This record gives sequence, C-alpha cells and structure tokens, in this order.
Amino acid sequence: MEPIKKKNNMIILGLGHFVPEDVLTNKQLEQMVDTTDEWITTRTGIKARRIAKKGVACSDLAYNASQNALDNAKLDPIDITHIIVGTFTSDYCAPATACILQAKLGSKKCEMAIDIAAGCSGFTYGLELARGIIANKPEAKVLVVGSEVCTSRLNFKDRNTCVLFGDGAGAAILTGHREGYPHVIDIELKTIGELGHLLMVGLEGGSAEPFVVGQRVSEKYFAHMKGREVFKHAVRNMTEISERILKKNNLTSQDVDLFIPHQANYRIIEAVAKKINLPMEKVFVNVHKYGNTSAASIILALSEAYSYGKIQKGDLVLLATFGAGFTVASVIIKF
Ligand code: UT7
Repeated sequence: MEPIKKKNNMIILGLGHFVPEDVLTNKQLEQMVDTTDEWITTRTGIKARRIAKKGVACSDLAYNASQNALDNAKLDPIDITHIIVGTFTSDYCAPATACILQAKLGSKKCEMAIDIAAGCSGFTYGLELARGIIANKPEAKVLVVGSEVCTSRLNFKDRNTCVLFGDGAGAAILTGHREGYPHVIDIELKTIGELGHLLMVGLEGGSAEPFVVGQRVSEKYFAHMKGREVFKHAVRNMTEISERILKKNNLTSQDVDLFIPHQANYRIIEAVAKKINLPMEKVFVNVHKYGNTSAASIILALSEAYSYGKIQKGDLVLLATFGAGFTVASVIIKF
C-alpha cells in the first residue's frame, strides 16, 4: 500500500496581536512583594508586563487580537469557519472562550469553536488542529488565537510566580494553499504528562478538588511552579524539538532567518539559541516588555516581529514553545 503523504498545504492569511495598555513594572512589584528590579532583570530579562483591567476577560483580549488579524487579512468575521483558542485563563469553565469569541466577532458561519488547554504551547497545538481541518477542508478559514489574562491566576503574594507573567493575545488566520502567502512548512509536537506536576494552576477548584459553596479561594487556586526544574526541561525540550524539525525538513540552523522561541525567560531563550547554533541577532525577543504571556507568547511575538518588519518575504522562521503539561512544539514557516 502507498504510504499516505502528509499534506503541508496551510498558509497564513493574516496575523494580529493585542496587549492591554496598563503596565506593571518591576519597580512597582517591589512595593507589592519581596523582590527587586535587579533580581527580576538578571534572572529573567523581564522589565515590565501588561495587565488587563478588572473585568477584562480572555475573550476581550482575544477579540482585539482577532480583529487585528482580520484587518491584516482583509477579511470579515463572517468568513471565519473555525475558531481555536489556546488558553489556561478562559472566561469560564463553560462555555468555551472560543464560543464567546465567535459571538463577539459575529462569525455566524463558524462551524466549530473550541478551547485547547496546552499551557504555553496552546497556540502551536492549535496550529496543528488547524492543519488537520485544512487538510480535509482546504477552503476553511481557521482563526487560531492564544489569549491569556495570566494575572487572574497569579498570587501576588508569591514572588516565585507573580513577577514572571503578563496578559496579552495574538491571532492568526489560516487556510489552504495559495501562492504568495506565508506557508506553514511543518509542525512537530511532544507531550510529557509525567512532568506536569512541576507547573500547575488550580490545585483546587477543578474536579480533583472541587470548591464547595462559600469556600474561600486559597493560594492553591493560583499558579505553582518549580522554576529551576521547569527551566531545565524548557531548555532541553525546546532545543530537541527545534533540532528535530530542522533535521526532518533537511534544514540546518544556517537556513533559519529568525528564531522565535517561547518568551518565558531571556536566559532560557539565550541557552536554546546557543545550543541550536543561532546568534542572538537572529532571535526575536519581547519578554522584557510583556513577561511570559503563556499561550499568547509565541503568536504575540510572531505578529509583533512581522509588524515591525523583522520578517521579510522569503524568510524562514522557526518557532519553539514549551508549557504546562509539559507540552512542546516547533513550527517552520516560509514567509
Ligand atoms: O511558561 C512555562 C515555562 N516557564 C518557564 O520556563 C519558567 C522557568 N523558570 C525560570 O524562569 C526560573 O527558574 C525562575 C525565574 C523562575 C527562577 O530563576 P532561578 O535562577 O532558577 O532561581 P531559583 O529558583 O533557583 O531561586 C533562587 C532564589 C531562591 O532563594 P534561595 O532559596 O536561594 O534563598 C528564591 O527564593 O531566588 C529566590 N527568588 C526570588 N528572589 C527575589 C525567587 N523568586 C524571587 C523574586 N525575587 N521574585
């Protein structure tokens, strides 16, 4: 029997991003928790992060980023057939943020709208779902979003986590092959559930430990991380999955024009770039401005890099993500 050939036929019609206007600086955090600007800067590279105002939900940031992507793609919300939202800070348990976004956009021809919980790899895992949809329905217009109000799940008394994360969103619209558009060449994924306990959110409030009426939220509701352990796995796995996708596509790091890794920590970014042999001039970094925006991180960085003119037609861009799960992914895009 002939082996089934994988279809690499997905193109990007438009990219968009959005961040809330309020800035929380390291200096301001010094007033809130036992930390210093010097510690945060040297250990993470983060100088500031954006924070959503009270009452602004994941779907609101997703809406703004999606509108930006629609404008850039010169499309109308009615054109969208599928919506996938990667997030760990959904508006509610149900309905899905993707359904709320569909209603806010007025995408009345949308067939399917779902959320995916893949931590910081939510956007890249969403791209893989989009690839599957488009392989079956090349005419589909799939909106893939990474959106997070991380600050809704931070304990601002825990210096180990509250200095690291910020809020934001990014979006991409994808469809089947057309000439002259950025082309998603390949996607590689990996899941390491055995290590999930190293980065957890919501140790209470889920079905494992449900709330009862009147119960007060404790620190268990917020993000918990064994930072040093996560750091090591992030470097090891983003390196491995970047090398794997390059090798599989008969490419080397010499062929990469821009590397956009998950924006969690400047030291992680630097270590991965060094291991895969890429000079920092070829690496896009915005972690200093936004901190770790989880599922929004990679698409916020990709859309920002593109809008700043850092990506030219013909450029080969390599993405790598790592997040709670653990979830790991790499993507190659030819612009
Ligand atoms: O998005 C998912 C992926 N997430 C990540 O990739 C994050 C991965 N981890 C990291 O980025 C780093 O491990 C951290 C930034 C979280 C921590 O950096 P580190 O160099 O690994 O520090 P550490 O955990 O080894 O902690 C060093 C010290 C500790 O004090 P002791 O035990 O040595 O006395 C911490 O209590 O730094 C202390 N510390 C702080 N001090 C001032 C931890 N957080 C803070 C803080 N300010 N905010």
